[in-house]
This record gives sequence, structure tokens and C-alpha cells, in this order.
Amino acid sequence: MYLEKLSLTDFRSYAQVDLALEPGVTVLVGSNGIGKTNLMEAIGYLATLNSHRVSTDAPLLRFGAERAMIRAKLVRGEQSTVLELEINAARANRGRINRSNPVRARDLLGICQTVLFAPEDLALVKGDPSSRRRFLDELLVSLMPRHAATRSDYDRVLKQRNALLKSARAGKFSAGHEATLDVWDQHMARAGAELLHARLELVDRLQPHLKNAYAQLTDGSKEAAAVYRSTLQDILDDDGAGASSGARAADGAAAVTDADAAAAPAEDLRLLSVEQLTDRYIQAFVAARRKELERGISLVGPHRDELELVLGSAPAKGYASHGETWSMCLSLRLASYYVMLDDARTGGSPPILILDDVFAELDVQRRRKLAAIVSGAEQVLVTAAVEDDIPAELTGRRVKVIPGGIDEQDNR
Ligand SMILES: Nc1ncnc2c1ncn2[C@@H]1O[C@H](COP(=O)(O)OP(=O)(O)OP(=O)(O)O)[C@@H](O)[C@H]1O
Ligand SMILES: [Mg+2]
Repeated sequence: MYLEKLSLTDFRSYAQVDLALEPGVTVLVGSNGIGKTNLMEAIGYLATLNSHRVSTDAPLLRFGAERAMIRAKLVRGEQSTVLELEINAARANRGRINRSNPVRARDLLGICQTVLFAPEDLALVKGDPSSRRRFLDELLVSLMPRHAATRSDYDRVLKQRNALLKSARAGKFSAGHEATLDVWDQHMARAGAELLHARLELVDRLQPHLKNAYAQLTDGSKEAAAVYRSTLQDILDDDGAGASSGARAADGAAAVTDADAAAAPAEDLRLLSVEQLTDRYIQAFVAARRKELERGISLVGPHRDELELVLGSAPAKGYASHGETWSMCLSLRLASYYVMLDDARTGGSPPILILDDVFAELDVQRRRKLAAIVSGAEQVLVTAAVEDDIPAELTGRRVKVIPGGIDEQDNR
């Protein structure tokens, strides 16, 4: 897919800007602070409803504005779609598809697909686990928009369950509360199982691409991997196999004796269905209840899971060199791109690649390799303050970004 037009109103530094785009490579050049990233951020936001720079919408509205608009014309194969997204200071954001009646912003998810590379990606390796969970969930929603609902259901249940646990911790816990907690356990187990199931499947899809991308970008001396560490697995392992043998028997598998169960290897959660994972969560909540009541928060669930990134035999976080960290981040983004391309082969359309300020961060070798990998994409949008940072391999249109807009000579 590619964007043919992008218009912003009251978004970040822009009162109004209209940018005409083409398939292939476009490099946006302009001095620091001129507004290049603002343009890329708008496209990323249209795709994911998230900014790669900030976690709230307020900074996206131009100073003093009450609402911002992102409009884009997107071409997928023979079909073109006009997308409009209204970001509001005081009420819910709204979208429109082909000038239809307004829809929820969420209904736009998955239509425009992007993979955005940016200096902020360093947090994928160096940041806390929430950065990596966000990476997974964003990709998940982009591939399967229905998982936006999975995520928000889970977040809602988690919040309510946490509120209940907190009140219990404050000593206001009665038998009635306990029964309510049982009900929330059921809801959270189901929502958590859906999310976990989807994430585990996604990590399996990412894995081979991550390994290949890292090998392509580097000399191949170390292997890159991503391992999903779930709090569910931890508690089932800690809780001993006794409880899980009961669950297995309930699933209709052969009941095992306690002695067998003690020696049984840890269960591979990737092989379980959503229903089976729901059962395991319920079991885990029972095992964790006393601790959760003491701490007043939910300790088990996808919100506490980690995607561990591994280089060779060491975790990337805390061990990888600066260059290795960068290669790992780029490889994760490339792996997302390849997973989306796999999808494109089965009826989708290749995503738009956005490389914001990344070349300046890389050495010549990595610049070249990255350029060679991305130059074949359907649309690649690149920003740079210094044109010389763009490797020669990346030939294509150059657009000059000037104060408040685009140099009109380029904008045709
Ligand atoms: N909400 C906002 N309202 C008005 N101006 C804003 C807002 N948010 C950011 N800006 C301005 O936008 C500019 C930053 O733009 P942007 O990050 O796109 O620059 P850039 O061209 O990517 O620069 P660099 O080359 O340094 O990365 C800053 O001058 C900032 O003050
Ligand atoms: Mg920038």
C-alpha cells in the first residue's frame, strides 16, 4: 500500500500542510526542528492510534488548538481509501472512512499499515518491559484489528480487579468481596488468555524473521532471538505440577499421578487453546490470591509479561553493545515488516515503511545494509536533517521541508 496524500490541520507545528506522495522512496530533508518527524508521527498515529514519541494526545494538538485532523489518501492495489482522523482535546477521537458518517477512531486500525523506525526504538531493548509489550500489541492490532478490543477488554477488567484488590488491602474485604473477585477472575482469565494466545502466536511468527534480519544486518556472528516470558508460566511452575495435573485431567487427557506430575516437564503454553489458557489463569489466580490480596495488585497476567530479547547466549538488555542494541531494534522492526509481508501474500498489502532520523544514528555499514533491505518496499518515507546521511543505495524523490510546510516545487 502507499499514501498518495497527507494533510494535517492543527497537528503539532502545522496549522495546515498538504503533502503529495508517491510509491517508492521519498526522502524528506530539512533542518532540525522544522517538522519532519511531526509528519511521520501523523502517519504512524493514523495507523496505530499511538505516537512513537508521546503517550498522550495533548502534545499532538497544535498549541492552543482544540482538535487536530489527519487526512490521508491511501492506495491498496486498485482501491483507494480516504481516511480522516480527528484528535480532540475534550472528547473521544473520531474517524471517517471514505467520507462516511463518523466512526470510532478504533475502526480505522489495520487499514493503513506502517512499520516505523525511529531513534526511540532503542527503548525496545533498553526500556522496561512495557515498551516490548507495546511493540507486540501494536503489531498484533495492526495485523488483526479485532485485537484492539481484546486489549481494551483486558485493560478494563484489570483496572477493576486492581481496584478491588486495593480495597481488600485497605482491610475492607468481606465474603462478598471474595465472591466479586471470583467473578473478576473469570473475566480476567478469559481476556488474558485471548491476549496471551495471540501474543504467543505472534512471537512464533516473528522469531525466524528476527533471526534472519539480525544476520543480514550484522556479520552474523551472534544469533538474535525473542523469548516470551509469561507470569502465568512462572506461577504454574512455582505452584508445582499438582494443580496442573488436575487441570489436565479436566481437559480429558489421561490423569497423571502426583509422582508423575512432579517429574513432568513444564507445559508449553504455546500448544494450548484459549480455553485451556483460561483454565490455567484461573488456577494461577487461585495460587496467587493470598499474595495479590497482600500487595493489592494483580500479579499474574499479560500486563506483567516480558518479551526477552536474546543475543547469542546473553540477554540483550544490559549486555548488548550500543551497535548491537541498534541492530536488535532494527531487526525487530524489520521482522514486523516481514510478518506483515507474509500476511500481504495472503490477501493483504505490504505496509508503508517509515524511517525517521535513523540513518544519522547508524554507521556506514549498517546504513547501507538497511537501505538495501528497505529500498524494495512499496513505499518508503525517510527523514534526515543532513542529506549526506542517506546512503546512495536509497535513490528516490527528495522533498524539502521548510518552515510551516513543504517546498512547493517538490509538492506535486
Ligand atoms: N503541539 C505542538 N504545537 C506547536 N508546535 C509543536 C508542537 N509539538 C511540537 N512542536 C514543534 O515542532 C518542532 C519539532 O518538529 P519535529 O520533531 O518534526 O522536527 P524534525 O524536523 O524532526 O527535527 P529533527 O531533525 O531535530 O529531528 C519543534 O520546534 C516543536 O516546538
Ligand atoms: Mg525528527
